[in-house]
Amino acid sequence: MSEVDDDWWRAAVVYQVYPRSFADASGDGIGDLRGILSRLDHLQELGVDAVWLGPVYPSPQADNGYDVADYLDVDPLFGTLRDLDELIEALHARGVRFIMDVVLNHTSDQHPWFLASRSGKDDPKRDWYWWRAPRPGHAPGTPGAEPNNWQAAFSGSAWRFDASTGEYYLQVFSAAQPDLNWENPAVRSALHDVLRFWLARGVDGFRMDVINFVSKDPALPDGPSGRGSRFGDGAPYIDGPRIHEFLAELRREVLGNRRDVVLIGEMPLTTIEHASRYTDPTNGEVDMVVHFKHMGLDHGPGGKWDPRPLDVRALKATLAAWQSGLAERGWNSLYLSSHDQPRHVSRFAPAQQDRAVAAKAIATALHLQRGTPFVYQGEELGLTNAPIDTPDDLHDIESRNHYLEEVAVGRDAEAVLAGMRPLARDTSRTPMPWDERPHGGFTHGVPWAPVASDHLDANAADQRADPDSVFHHYRRLIDLRHTEPAVVHGVLTLLLDAHPQVYAFTRQLGTTALLVVANLGGSPTTADIGGDAWRGGELRLLSGRDVASLRERTRQGLRDGTVELDGWDAVIVQRHDDASGRPAV
Ligand code: GLC
Repeated sequence: MSEVDDDWWRAAVVYQVYPRSFADASGDGIGDLRGILSRLDHLQELGVDAVWLGPVYPSPQADNGYDVADYLDVDPLFGTLRDLDELIEALHARGVRFIMDVVLNHTSDQHPWFLASRSGKDDPKRDWYWWRAPRPGHAPGTPGAEPNNWQAAFSGSAWRFDASTGEYYLQVFSAAQPDLNWENPAVRSALHDVLRFWLARGVDGFRMDVINFVSKDPALPDGPSGRGSRFGDGAPYIDGPRIHEFLAELRREVLGNRRDVVLIGEMPLTTIEHASRYTDPTNGEVDMVVHFKHMGLDHGPGGKWDPRPLDVRALKATLAAWQSGLAERGWNSLYLSSHDQPRHVSRFAPAQQDRAVAAKAIATALHLQRGTPFVYQGEELGLTNAPIDTPDDLHDIESRNHYLEEVAVGRDAEAVLAGMRPLARDTSRTPMPWDERPHGGFTHGVPWAPVASDHLDANAADQRADPDSVFHHYRRLIDLRHTEPAVVHGVLTLLLDAHPQVYAFTRQLGTTALLVVANLGGSPTTADIGGDAWRGGELRLLSGRDVASLRERTRQGLRDGTVELDGWDAVIVQRHDDASGRPAV
């Protein structure tokens, strides 16, 4: 195995902590660092290798911390720098690595760099952001006067007029998040210093927020009209002209030859072609890409606020394309949930009583793929979407802005909310249910958002005590990855690509082969696994409503090539081949 293959992150599972909602020790209703420190047993028992912590920097919290006002400190909301040092040490003492979220595409509009930049056209930091004059012939600040047609991710134009200097600044997300100008070498160098600061504090990696947005063509050309310029394919700020150069420079400047620090690139709307360049170790850019192609499959013609059912065939085709696209060089991340996505179990719409088995089957299909799995807090409990009953349940800047914008143009408020319920980010950001105490033991105060009542029934304490829980299924999947190299490195071959609900594939590494068959639907079905090649295979991990019956059905099915699956059944079978690659029966 080459040196590069030995990099720890290839065999690792990363756990995402969303600080505001993980655990609150202070009692102010908002999660904090000391809260996280008090819950490390949970992470250790689950067996994860690394924790990615969402932003805890000083911030006005316009976008829950993705609007950074100081890159080198901790917001008192979450604790102190000393608490963060302690968290890093405590994780290390348990053999868990620490990954810092860094937001380098934009700052808060309250960051001193932006305050200086905004203060006047001659300020030395003016060029640290993107300032442009209004379009000629248009009155400044009026519709149509924006320097180009780009739309912001969180509604409206991507340009904000600043009356004091008569110019617009670029803000691809929201007015509270002005974009940094990476064309300016002083900006890049200041950001490299930020990463060096955190490296010196012992972090083991960085999750780099929307990092494929940082290179913009200085001509700032119009994008495709309509949706195309708002987070759509072809938006001109995605995978921009100097992006590969900037990322290679960042690694060189910050890490030199160090290979033990992982660089994870969050890259909305990137392509397989770009991703294979980004993650090709010989290019020295990032180690893995977090892409979004599978996250848009249930967006309708009107985008995410116009949802449609998730088609399992489309999911398989998309993920398979990324598996094969990055098979020879490069590396995938594996995820279905995050703080930016709804709870994934809800996307598959299982019946209420099937939620736990559905969570297990989906996790099996995801975790057995090649790449680094990410577990978003609460996913290991099989949580489903928190309800959005009224507009008061919308806390997120994206959903709030959308709601207000639609209602302002006269759309029916209930219809707008109905369109937002399935995919709004609020659905997955509510506090963790730890135990049966009030508010799930998340806080002894009043939580910033309610803990959903069905989340209380899925609380962590109960699940840790129950060997059949979703929690223990995740623990077993993680353990399998740690003990079976074919899970990490094996070649993936998709089977049954046209089957509407079975997700099936094999992994092969040397003489070890794995077969994964998961029914991602609630009704019984059969999976034709193609003859008796798996006869006598070892049943490694099974989940379903009736595991004893599934075991019998699988044994029989491996003999005659057809496995009978009940709704949400999933099996992992292992085979040891002889040196010629033939099954050794
Ligand atoms: C990333 C973050 C998301 C944030 C956005 C802007 O996509 O994950 O939460 O809103 O970047 O920083």
